[in-house]
Amino acid sequence: TQPVLTLNDGVAIPQIGLGVWQIEDGEAPELVSNAIDLGYRHVDTARVYGNERGVGEAIRRAQVARSDVFVTTKVWNDDQGYDNTLRAFDESIARLGLDEIDLYLIHWAKPSQDKYLETWKALIEIKNSGRARSIGVSNFQIPHLERIIGETGVLPSVNQIELHPRFQQHDLRAFHKARGIATESWSPLGAGTLLNDSVLGGIGRKHGKSIAQVIIRWHIQNGLIVIPKSANPKRMAENLAVFDFALDDEDLVTIGKLDSPEGRTGGHPDHVAW
Ligand code: A2P
Repeated sequence: TQPVLTLNDGVAIPQIGLGVWQIEDGEAPELVSNAIDLGYRHVDTARVYGNERGVGEAIRRAQVARSDVFVTTKVWNDDQGYDNTLRAFDESIARLGLDEIDLYLIHWAKPSQDKYLETWKALIEIKNSGRARSIGVSNFQIPHLERIIGETGVLPSVNQIELHPRFQQHDLRAFHKARGIATESWSPLGAGTLLNDSVLGGIGRKHGKSIAQVIIRWHIQNGLIVIPKSANPKRMAENLAVFDFALDDEDLVTIGKLDSPEGRTGGHPDHVAW
C-alpha cells in the first residue's frame, strides 16, 4: 500500500500522484483511468491543462469509488480575484463532473497582478462551503505565503513548487516545515532532464532500479508529495514501484550534492509572463 500524508487541516493525501500536464483531454479518459486501475489514487490537474473533462471521465470510468481518488485542480492566472475565482471553481467542478474536489490550488501568485490575496479569500470561502476539502497554493515564494497567512490567518495546506534533485528548494521547504505546510514537487523528474544523469544512474544500478524510480524514492524519503507525469502505462507503473527498496544515507548525501541554483527547468515565480 502507498503512503498517505496528513495535511495541516486533517485531510489525507496519497504521497504519489499522477501529474497530467500535457496529457490531451481526449486521451485522458483512457490514460488516467488506466493509471487508477494500475494503482494511482491521486491525480493532479489544472484548468490551464485543458483536460479536466477527460480526467473527470477517467475517474468515473476507473474501477474505484470516487472517494478513493484524491483530485487536485488549480485556478489559472487570468481567473484570479474573488468573484472570478468562485466562478472558475464552479466551471472546473462542472468540467470534472464532480460535486467536490479534494484540493484546490492557486496556480501562481503572479505578483505583478496582485490579486492572489483576494483569490486566497475565495478559496477560503470554497473550503468553508465544503466543495473543496483542502486548499493551498502553487509557486508561492515566502513573501506571498507570509502575506496570505498574515492577512487571513488561514494556512494553505500545501505549496506545490518545482522541486527535484537539481533544484531542491531548501529555504522554502524549511519555511513550509516551520509552518506545517506540505511541500508538493512538480516536475519531480526535472521534466525528464535528470533521466540520463550518471550519478543517479549509478545509484539506480546499485538498487536494480531505474533513474526515475531513484528520484521518486528520493522525494518520498524527503517527505514530499510527488506527482510524476507520464503518458505511458509502462512508465506510470514503473513510477509507482518504489516501495520495495530504500535509498541509504550515502545515496541521500550524493543526491543532495546535485542541487544547483541554476537547476530550475520551469518558469520563475516572480517573473511569470503568462
Ligand atoms: P512520458 O510521458 O512519455 O512518460 P516530470 O514529471 O518531472 O515533469 O517529468 C515528465 C517527463 O518524464 C515526461 O517527458 C515523461 O515522458 C518522462 N517520464 C516519466 N516517467 C518516466 C520514466 N519512468 N522513465 C522515463 N521517462 C519518464
